[in-house]
Amino acid sequence: MMNASPENLLATFKKEFLGCSAAKTSHTKHVFDATAMDVESMDDYQRILEMRAFYAQKGMCNPYFMPRQGVISDRVQVEGRDYISFSGYNYLGLSDHPTVIEAVKSAVTRYGTHAGAARMVGGQTELHREVEHAYAEAFGFDDCVMSVGGYAVNVMTVSYLLGANDLILMDDLMHNSGMMGAVMSQARRIVFPHNDYSALDRLLKEHRLNYRRAMILVEGAYSMDGDLVDLPALLTLKRQHHAWLMVDEAHSLGVVGKTGKGVCEHWGVPASEVDLIMGTLSKSFASCGGFLGGSRHMIDVLRHFAPGLLLYSTGLPPASAAAALAALTMMRTEPERITRLQHNVTRFVALARERGFDVGQAGQSAVVPIHLGDTRLALHLMSELLKVGIIVHAVMYPIVPQGQARLRFFLTVQHTEAQFVHTLDQLRECLDRYRSESSVPDQR
Ligand SMILES: Cc1ncc(COP(=O)(O)O)c(C=O)c1O
Repeated sequence: MMNASPENLLATFKKEFLGCSAAKTSHTKHVFDATAMDVESMDDYQRILEMRAFYAQKGMCNPYFMPRQGVISDRVQVEGRDYISFSGYNYLGLSDHPTVIEAVKSAVTRYGTHAGAARMVGGQTELHREVEHAYAEAFGFDDCVMSVGGYAVNVMTVSYLLGANDLILMDDLMHNSGMMGAVMSQARRIVFPHNDYSALDRLLKEHRLNYRRAMILVEGAYSMDGDLVDLPALLTLKRQHHAWLMVDEAHSLGVVGKTGKGVCEHWGVPASEVDLIMGTLSKSFASCGGFLGGSRHMIDVLRHFAPGLLLYSTGLPPASAAAALAALTMMRTEPERITRLQHNVTRFVALARERGFDVGQAGQSAVVPIHLGDTRLALHLMSELLKVGIIVHAVMYPIVPQGQARLRFFLTVQHTEAQFVHTLDQLRECLDRYRSESSVPDQR
């Protein structure tokens, strides 16, 4: 059995598996193995059991799959208890806004609960085109296509556009969905160090001319570190080396830039300079689904041919499309939500630093990590905070590199300064107590 410690629960998608080169053909002879068919003998199943035992033995609260009641905002109810929450993506606080809820109700009354079919063959409502036009217009795309999930949009787009003769260069902290799209594409895959554009330039010089197409794949605001991409630097590289640039703006649209238009607005670059901008409806936009913005030709091809985007898959449910449309309208008519959210980020980062916490380069998006280094420490603190009514989740290897465990805070417009002070004071206390009880040095 593999090392089945609780921190390995999430080790399913190992970076090693993603590799740095094209998929290799295995020459190992495979033999029939009846025990391999037994789910209970799977390493991952054993990890789940170990994790449950870990939380039960220590009398800790299990922070995974907590049964919640009601809406998640700055607060959440779990089994009748009220918590401060830093684990929701409701950045602009729109998921329970009466305007959004009314829009959903009237869409359901008009179109029912279901798109009807794949959009190409009868599942296309006026609402689908209306919401895509609205997003294209708001973010400055030539055109936009929406599908049922952000994860799937990344997987389907990358794996459709690139193939075995192509090259994909990904930031080391690229979201798993982009990485899995790259694996599925069978292209040559190279991971470059996080935000290291000299390394990227060197890799492009070395490899670009050996491949047909090339794509640089990055996030706008990184979901692990909360820092931003340097868009002008990447645009220069993509032009020099004749590569497509795809930016996953899951955590930057609605959050970054004066009016929430993401990293293009932040850097003063027209969105049309980026080949593909991916966004999700599941964060700022109070819904569920994913979208892509790009040139008319690019989106046309993807809309018709990318398997799983619209082809072979049913369209976005009317309720999700209506929520996304109403949330976008609210983002535009109430820009003070974005200003307040950005103010919250600045205050949280300042208060954390005042208490001696390391937030790295965060401060320009609603994701703020508190770096702890040691996985057990991160898991312990997550559990201790839960006991005092605060929900924040730990992130550890293999999601981030070894030794870079952290607590990851998602901030929303609804959080208050008092909640930040209370949480950070509690965290400081728990951390000091842990260090004095276990005399574990800071392993950062
Ligand atoms: C950077 C990033 N990209 C893509 C996704 C997938 O988005 P969705 O939740 O819409 O599937 C996520 C989800 O958390 C994400 O953080």
